[in-house]
Amino acid sequence: MSTSESSTELLQAQAQIWNYIFSFISSSAVRCAVQLDIPDVLYKHGKPMHISDLSTELSKVNPSKVSFLPILMRFLVHFGFLNQQEDRYSLAPASRLLAKNHESFNLRSLLLVIHDPIIHKPWFELSNWFQNDLPTTFHTVYGKPMWELFLEEPRLCDTFSDAMANDSRLIANVLITECKHIFENLTSLVDVGGGIGTVLDLPHVIRDLKGSGNLEFVGGSMFEKIPNANAILLEWIMHDWSDEDCVKILKKCKESTPGRDKGGKLIIIDTVLESPKHDTELVRAQYNMDMMMLVCLAGKERTKKEWGKLFNEAGFNECRITSILGSRCLIEVYP
Ligand SMILES: C[S@@+](CC[C@H](N)C(=O)[O-])C[C@H]1O[C@@H](n2cnc3c(N)ncnc32)[C@H](O)[C@@H]1O
Repeated sequence: MSTSESSTELLQAQAQIWNYIFSFISSSAVRCAVQLDIPDVLYKHGKPMHISDLSTELSKVNPSKVSFLPILMRFLVHFGFLNQQEDRYSLAPASRLLAKNHESFNLRSLLLVIHDPIIHKPWFELSNWFQNDLPTTFHTVYGKPMWELFLEEPRLCDTFSDAMANDSRLIANVLITECKHIFENLTSLVDVGGGIGTVLDLPHVIRDLKGSGNLEFVGGSMFEKIPNANAILLEWIMHDWSDEDCVKILKKCKESTPGRDKGGKLIIIDTVLESPKHDTELVRAQYNMDMMMLVCLAGKERTKKEWGKLFNEAGFNECRITSILGSRCLIEVYP
């Protein structure tokens, strides 16, 4: 290897490691844009907006900082969050999901909760957690699990619940339009932490929520008792827990549902790692979520084989996996 080749390689490697080191900047810049209402103003405008009009509309930006806005804007353009035509900006299609008024579904609350300093802090303890014997990084920082911390932080708990409600709406729409069969012949459904049928969640999350029509709220723990139903929906639940806890949850589900001949089943919405394999954006989202679960809850995402093992251990006989929910799958499990 010649000297010039090796220095080129070294400089390339330097830039690559810089980009790992600086990778927090892209999410911080997007959070800043959301906190300044940039997606909301662009979304409301509905067509490419001149930077001077945008600056005028951004009422939170102090006049002394307006001259810094183009730096933030060009970064967001480079990273694909915004589109730019000369001095005019618009939201890239995916970024519309961060506008408050985006119809039916938005990711604003998820961004704000994940980037809340309370949720950020445990990331700084990840390596300490690997070296201690505490159950989660949240225990390492706060002495309690994330769900208990929410009890003392109602603002964070509400933002988290809003993020989950948004996600549930999107998933429910896809299921109702593209997987109608899963709701056929269902006379009752328990949705853990969700928003349809009988909703089971921890008492401090349910608080004084009142149901209406077919919607009913029950405060309690799925480790103790899950209300009886034809089917139990576990959306983004299992990846929060260790294998041992998942088997306990599955066994509780089995106690509360009838046999297969009477329509008993579980509907699980969760990741099946590397499925679908070909889409790098979806697979990247899965590994990001895997790390998120590790840090927040000492939970994890699972491969098809790992899911099968859990179902076997809990006494279920068959599972059907359908890749229809982006980075997640629909998993139907039968006793
Ligand atoms: C990641 S969220 C998913 C919520 C919902 N299924 C959705 O996808 O929108 C996990 C939920 O489980 C709830 N939870 C945690 N521990 C629980 C327990 N022991 N029993 C019942 N729910 C619990 C949390 O309060 C939270 O609402």
